[in-house]
Amino acid sequence: MPVILGIESSCDETSAAVCADGVMLSNIIANQTIHEAYGGVVPELASRVHQQNIIPAVQQAINNAKIHKNDIDAVAFTRGPGLLGSLLVGVSFAKAFALAQNLPLIDINHMQAHVLAHFIGEQKPAFPFLCLTVSGGHTQIVLVRDYFDMEIIGHTQDDAAGEALDKTSKVLGLPYPGGPLIDKYARLGNPEAYQFPEPQIPGYNFSFSGLKTAILYFIQKNTAQNPGFVQQNLPDICASVEKRIVTILLNKLTKAAQAYGIKDIALAGGVSANTGLRQGLQQAGEKYGWNCFVPKLEYCTDNAAMIAIAGYYKFLKGDFTNQHVAPLARMPF
Ligand code: KG4
Ligand code: ZN
Repeated sequence: MPVILGIESSCDETSAAVCADGVMLSNIIANQTIHEAYGGVVPELASRVHQQNIIPAVQQAINNAKIHKNDIDAVAFTRGPGLLGSLLVGVSFAKAFALAQNLPLIDINHMQAHVLAHFIGEQKPAFPFLCLTVSGGHTQIVLVRDYFDMEIIGHTQDDAAGEALDKTSKVLGLPYPGGPLIDKYARLGNPEAYQFPEPQIPGYNFSFSGLKTAILYFIQKNTAQNPGFVQQNLPDICASVEKRIVTILLNKLTKAAQAYGIKDIALAGGVSANTGLRQGLQQAGEKYGWNCFVPKLEYCTDNAAMIAIAGYYKFLKGDFTNQHVAPLARMPF
């Protein structure tokens, strides 16, 4: 019954989790509020806050799991992709802890871990399945043949879906990160109020930079005519933006599902917390006869539980790294 300690520090969440035999015993996530004042994550500040948070987060994860640190059999950590300074804190901690406790180390790809979050809990997709992984930095359609046999069949050519949401919210004067706030206001608005363009990109790839510019010009034009435009129409603007981003994502996902003849369809990454996207997936699932999988909210945004579960499956394969491992800002599958 392997007990795995998972460590995540790729962006602005410091997280530690403990899983025993694939069952999650704890998942501690320390958010960083310091970036709100800057409208985005400041890498230098993020790594400093990770340094402050990492030991308390790990201690809390061990306490909540009701285990002793000597019960841990391996340390899994995010090696990349992410902010190098942030990754360095988690990687250094994992190496030091493993050295002190004489434990094996397991390096994890953050984007694979978002996909493997589906293996926490009872409801698991069957291989092969498709996973739409949408976060602040990535937008990918992943063909998942096995736990560590994944292929990116579609990706964004420019901005990520989360980035488009965060940049839109910045233009609307909302604090960072804007995705959850757009979600909140969208529930109160009319998604048909304003029409934004759907980019025509070949295959299963995405583009969000044209949409981002269209939204910016739309806000600038309307605000020039009526300075109170955003304030008076915030729910309708959020609902319309969210609807367009969701249809762009789901149209490509549907195209891929039909081409590959796959019926098990999953969502992952921070943007999969979005209410409109979750509802849209359910509706598409009913229409096309898909088995849909959406992670629990705490496993959508960055968390160490997904690192611990990925570490568990690598542990079963005997796939370990060593003390010479270094973080990677960019890390292919
Ligand atoms: O996976 P994640 O936590 O971090 C990265 O690896 O990037 O994703 C963060 C992204 C941000 O862009 C944030 O605005 C978005 O997820 N997000 C949401 C929601 N919750 C988080 N976007 C839309 N609706 C939400 N409820
Ligand atoms: Zn992420």
